Amino acid sequence: MMRFTMSQQTPGSTTAQALQRDAFENLSQENRKFAPSPEFAANAVVTAADYAEADADRPAFWAKQARELLSWSKDFSQALDWSTPPFAKWFVGGEVNAAYNALDRHVENGHGDRVAIYFEGEPGDTRTYTYAQLTEEVKKAANAFESLGVAKGDRVAVYLPMIPEAVITLLACARIGAIHSVVFGGFSAEALRSRIDDAEAKLVVTADGTYRRGKPSALKSAVDEALSHEGNGSGHTVQNVVVVKRNGQDVDWHDGRDHWWADTVGTASAEHAAVGHDSEHPLFILYTSGTTGTPKGILHTTGGYLTQTAYTHKAVFDLHPETDVYWCTADVGWITGHSYVAYAPLINGATQVMYEGTPDSPHQGRWWEIVEKYKVSILYTAPTAIRTFMKWGKEIPAKSDLSSIRVLGSVGEPINPEAWMWYREVIGGNAGKNGERKETPAPIVDTWWQTETGAQMIAPLPGVTATKPGSAQVPLPGIAVDVVDEAGESVPNGSGGYLVIREPWPAMLRGIWGDPERFKETYWSRFETMYFAGDGAKKDEDGDIWLLGRVDDVMNISGHRLSTAEIESALVSHPAVAEAAVVGAADETTGQAVVAFVILRGDAVDTGDAIVQELRNHVGKEIGPIAKPRTILVVPELPKTRSGKIMRRLLKDVAEGREVGDATTLADNTVMAQIAQSLRK
Ligand code: WT7
Repeated sequence: MMRFTMSQQTPGSTTAQALQRDAFENLSQENRKFAPSPEFAANAVVTAADYAEADADRPAFWAKQARELLSWSKDFSQALDWSTPPFAKWFVGGEVNAAYNALDRHVENGHGDRVAIYFEGEPGDTRTYTYAQLTEEVKKAANAFESLGVAKGDRVAVYLPMIPEAVITLLACARIGAIHSVVFGGFSAEALRSRIDDAEAKLVVTADGTYRRGKPSALKSAVDEALSHEGNGSGHTVQNVVVVKRNGQDVDWHDGRDHWWADTVGTASAEHAAVGHDSEHPLFILYTSGTTGTPKGILHTTGGYLTQTAYTHKAVFDLHPETDVYWCTADVGWITGHSYVAYAPLINGATQVMYEGTPDSPHQGRWWEIVEKYKVSILYTAPTAIRTFMKWGKEIPAKSDLSSIRVLGSVGEPINPEAWMWYREVIGGNAGKNGERKETPAPIVDTWWQTETGAQMIAPLPGVTATKPGSAQVPLPGIAVDVVDEAGESVPNGSGGYLVIREPWPAMLRGIWGDPERFKETYWSRFETMYFAGDGAKKDEDGDIWLLGRVDDVMNISGHRLSTAEIESALVSHPAVAEAAVVGAADETTGQAVVAFVILRGDAVDTGDAIVQELRNHVGKEIGPIAKPRTILVVPELPKTRSGKIMRRLLKDVAEGREVGDATTLADNTVMAQIAQSLRK
């Protein structure tokens, strides 16, 4: 049984849209395959046996992982309670402390001197934290937050750059059972305000600012602005703001509310006993864009999340914690920075690199110098970065010795075969700065997952799977993924459809903060008993999965998720704009780019470039610089159906410079001609 409840789209046209990737990149012609080298396979930490074991009994497989990878202060009595779908409970009755598992136990097990974090600041300053030192910092932060009145279940908003204090803050919250809500530093004061209000945060942790391409970039001023209003009726809920001094820039100060990190955390006691929290105790909220104008607060809980992030981190990256140096380039403001920077690597006792800045500061070889300096062996990054490096040229990474690299990860958007091959050959094949080549380049693991899934879901296992350029290929052990047609029937090999998840998984979202109905409606109503991911996908002749892009009104810009509706509502909040429609148009570097079509109000003057610039800045102010449209086109009309729905498909054709497709369902069939005419002017 299934119902269609996604009012935003015409059934059929959406998969067709996603399948464009297929046509566009000619994926069907892609049949290269790269088997693991025998040495790699022989030393791999996870083998094919895990698939069979998980298939035999999924909950039992995950229960085994939970007990092996985590230390529980109270054992659980049941692996999975799925008696009230779609609300899952994993590891029922168990108690576990995330921070204890990430830190204290490694110190207790004799690994206190192992490096947890090598921090590299953008200006070139460095800091190293061993597990013992990081444990101490987190204990101090936990004491400091408690002394500021933060208790179990309270929400803490985090607006920080990529500095160790970000990880320390997250783990300190987890330690005391406070729920963190990280807001990416690239989001605006307005976006921060709405997230603080929705979660009713009690504390905000921020920094004076950070560095961006050698220049200071402010953060605290946005917090001040976000807190300068009355909040949701009764005044906002924030009582205190803790401020890390990072770039030393001037800040406004609110006595009584604002506290320097050094004065609070720095002076707190380094003794703090961790207690176990219920396996289903909320760990964090992370806001992400959906198909409507308001971001959703995705809720994750403790035991299942930690288990699946730790298992996948070990299995997919073939982690050998004693010898590997792992570097995930994602910002902690996104789910990748939560699961694969703040939690999994530390749970697994790994040594990781953390870098504050951009890849081109002070020059385009910065990342490769970092790889050489710390002998990074596992690198996890996004296709948009890889395509940028391709553009800059292979001579740049060739100047560094990348021979330490043995596994390469990709995440965030589909990786085109060309970028995949470049990543493998240029980064994975480098065996020294004198142009030496590795006999077998490092394997690439393309990992498909989402903010909602919490952890990786589809990815090759580097010691098992023969990898294919451009495909994430196989569901991980214990994960039940399928591709289905409109009717919810599994499609045969060689066909495309919608990506679904058939069985509950440990790190699955437990809901949308404060909105259980939206949780059901968004993910569990299209196909009643299956999770609807919002992605189109195809099974090839071997049954391997190729991700084709979103089938809803969510865009993916440089691996960052943005909704068309959110940007449209930012645009129409400008006094000059009467109506707006936004589409994601294919872009060579960023995957997709935001293209906006706007109708100006009757009394607004079309000032050409000036109004376009003003509207771009307005979107930047409402949402953040990442949401600024690449292109804004002022048009006289928008194409709508008879029921008033904007036909984005046609606008996408215009934005991508294609001949406009079937427009027969338009209410006014002259509209597309009017738009074309106005754009020629
Ligand atoms: C959406 C989720 C997962 C962390 C970063 C993004 C797209 C993600 C892949 C991949 C093809 C991918 C999907 C997904 N996506 N990884 N390996 N291949 N598409 O998390 O912001 O929640 O976005 O990113 O469209 O639905 P997110």
